[in-house]
Amino acid sequence: MAMWGGRFTEATLDEFKAFNDSISFDYQLAQQDIAASKVWAAGLAKAGLIAADEAKQLQQALQQLAEELLQNPRLPVESDEEDIHSWVESKLTERLGAVARKLHTGRSRNDLVATDLRLWTRAAASAVRSSLLGSIQALLNFAEAAGTAVMPGYTHLQRAQPVMVAHWALAYVEMMKRDLGRLDDASKRLNVCPLGAGALAGTGVPVDRSWLAQQLGFDAAAANSLDAVSDRDFVVEFSAAASLCMTHVSRLSEDVIFFCSGEAGFFKLGDAISSGSSLMPQKKNPDVFELLRGKSGRILGQLVAILHVLKGLPLAYNKDMQEDKQGFFDLMQQWQQSLQVLATVLPHLSVKVAVCRQAAELGYSNATDLADYLVGKGIPFRDAHHLSGQLVLIASGQQLPLEQLSLTEMQKVCPDISEDVYPALTLEAGMARRNALGGTSPEQVLPALVQARAWLATQ
Ligand code: ARG
Repeated sequence: MAMWGGRFTEATLDEFKAFNDSISFDYQLAQQDIAASKVWAAGLAKAGLIAADEAKQLQQALQQLAEELLQNPRLPVESDEEDIHSWVESKLTERLGAVARKLHTGRSRNDLVATDLRLWTRAAASAVRSSLLGSIQALLNFAEAAGTAVMPGYTHLQRAQPVMVAHWALAYVEMMKRDLGRLDDASKRLNVCPLGAGALAGTGVPVDRSWLAQQLGFDAAAANSLDAVSDRDFVVEFSAAASLCMTHVSRLSEDVIFFCSGEAGFFKLGDAISSGSSLMPQKKNPDVFELLRGKSGRILGQLVAILHVLKGLPLAYNKDMQEDKQGFFDLMQQWQQSLQVLATVLPHLSVKVAVCRQAAELGYSNATDLADYLVGKGIPFRDAHHLSGQLVLIASGQQLPLEQLSLTEMQKVCPDISEDVYPALTLEAGMARRNALGGTSPEQVLPALVQARAWLATQ
């Protein structure tokens, strides 16, 4: 029987019940519901609303239920209860009788579900955090293993200027450091407690809400009851943080997929993380990175979905809010798993140093270095750019790299060029020149790696 049956004279329609019930997914909040209920029972006793002995009975039965659920987390799904809150109460009633019927004094499923979901999110965020740190660690290891390997850097997917492979990996480390900042920031705002806000207007029993909040590990009690029961900003914030983090994972995956392609061939995927084709025997596919790229779409979809659910809702609680859960559970789980998988597969990715180097030398990626060289000879950059472009045109007409043009040919375009142009056009010279803060010179990149490791050790 539903917990709210008193004023109803007709039986609930099966179709309505099937549509309305949330037990099939909110059973995942069972441990949180039990934790919040234990504290609520203590709060009621503290306020003199139930006897200390009754609170103890409730807490013991709740503890036992929590242990049974550890054995079989899906136990509630087998029941006919509407949601996890009614399931917990009905289990207690089965075991304790009348005392169990006192537990819901002064509380509502509205403040309860909001509390449960925050507790759930706190645990999920902590798992995401560890996996994110694991991914950062794996990227740093990859950067270190890449040593001083150089590959082409791209703009417009055209070879632009050479960069260190480690510099590429450290770019994603920067993104993930920001992701971590967003996660931590959202976690701060998450950590306020709705319990004791009642259905919407505040509870009618004299519980100490700050004490309840503290018992559950929250920083404070939510300040406004209407907001407390209807606020799902934290769902949006974590979904947004996940979407952006997974956008980074997706871009990294896209890079890796290209770098592993026959066209680039810069990286090699280990067999242990590759899949084959059922038809084409030669194939070795980067499915894992494609899936990571694909997951980002699924996660972004959840962000859009929750914003749409919330945007037209009047205060305070509305049943639309039950739609906050399934997508969000999935999002947090997929986010965590994706980061964990990324950390697991990165060690199976290796750099083909010679291929990278060869490619970095192709495509006139030292044309900027030639322009910079001319600037060193006192030529204004805009003119130097033009002269270097003319030399690229001549060299490409002869299918030669810039450094194989003869001095005489170069001097025809610009008489200021002398023999010292050749060392200036080497890959090493170009790399070493990009030596301002944040550039790709080894002198910048190697300390950046050390700094990133030091930062990670503080997390
Ligand atoms: N299953 C509900 C949810 O997830 C719990 C709160 C129900 N509250 C109510 N007033 N019907 O949102």
